[in-house]
Amino acid sequence: MSTPRVALVTGATSGLGLALSGALADAGLAVALTGRSRQDAEAAAEALRQRGHQDVAGFALDVTDPLSVSRAVTETRRRFGTVDALVNNAAVAADPRATASTVSLEVFEATLAVNTTGPLRVAQEVLPLMREAGAGRIVNIVSHMASLGAMTTPTSPAYTVSKTALLAVTRKLAAELEADGTGITVNAVSPGQVDTRMSYRPGAQSPQQAAETMLWLLLEEQVPTGGFFHGREPLPW
Ligand SMILES: NC(=O)c1ccc[n+]([C@@H]2O[C@H](COP(=O)([O-])OP(=O)(O)OC[C@H]3O[C@@H](n4cnc5c(N)ncnc54)[C@H](OP(=O)(O)O)[C@@H]3O)[C@@H](O)[C@H]2O)c1
Repeated sequence: MSTPRVALVTGATSGLGLALSGALADAGLAVALTGRSRQDAEAAAEALRQRGHQDVAGFALDVTDPLSVSRAVTETRRRFGTVDALVNNAAVAADPRATASTVSLEVFEATLAVNTTGPLRVAQEVLPLMREAGAGRIVNIVSHMASLGAMTTPTSPAYTVSKTALLAVTRKLAAELEADGTGITVNAVSPGQVDTRMSYRPGAQSPQQAAETMLWLLLEEQVPTGGFFHGREPLPW
């Protein structure tokens, strides 16, 4: 298994995505930092350039917009030659106080569009490059809440279901790519509680601490596929 040299990170303009992009650049990878706003993505890349990283670029990528996804992947390939690590980090959490019986179905569908269909769309766009290279790493950022066994609270139904569905997407993609003998791994990671715009709880980790726990699946030579992890520990489905 070869280790990747070019990463594309979605939702890289803030929080965990921004910290993870910095950690990947620190590890020597070229990094495409993507975000819904091209300006914000370029500003995030520029901040890394100021830290001495030259192989970084900011591109517009809205995971719900097929054209913007294909453009961002094309721009990354033109700039860095390929994409061999994808971090599906972008997400929304728009229903923290709703319940399954009250959640707006528009919010429900919009959440799945960003948190579940979006990662699959970006994966489908980069997979031809990874298949061509005979290697690749895909990490989908989920949540402890994605586990069916942990689903004991009634709130955040759209967010929770979208992350459980992303876990299922992870398994299906991993199974297909393993059966095809592609050398491409697909894993899901819960970062745990992280102090970001999306969430704050006392004792939460910094985005930098949370990012470190997922570098393993992106950077180490031998990694599993089809798993659901926090740090290096498997989580129950
Ligand atoms: N924070 C936690 O405690 C926690 C816990 C468990 C899991 N997570 C997961 O960790 C990941 C990162 O979240 P975070 O905590 O760092 O929150 P965050 O700072 O709000 O990051 C979310 C990112 O997603 C982007 N985004 C939203 N909709 C998008 C779209 N349609 N297309 C592309 N990008 C879009 C946002 O960009 P804009 O600036 O354009 O809105 C933002 O950069 C998420 O997958 C989240 O579910 C976080």
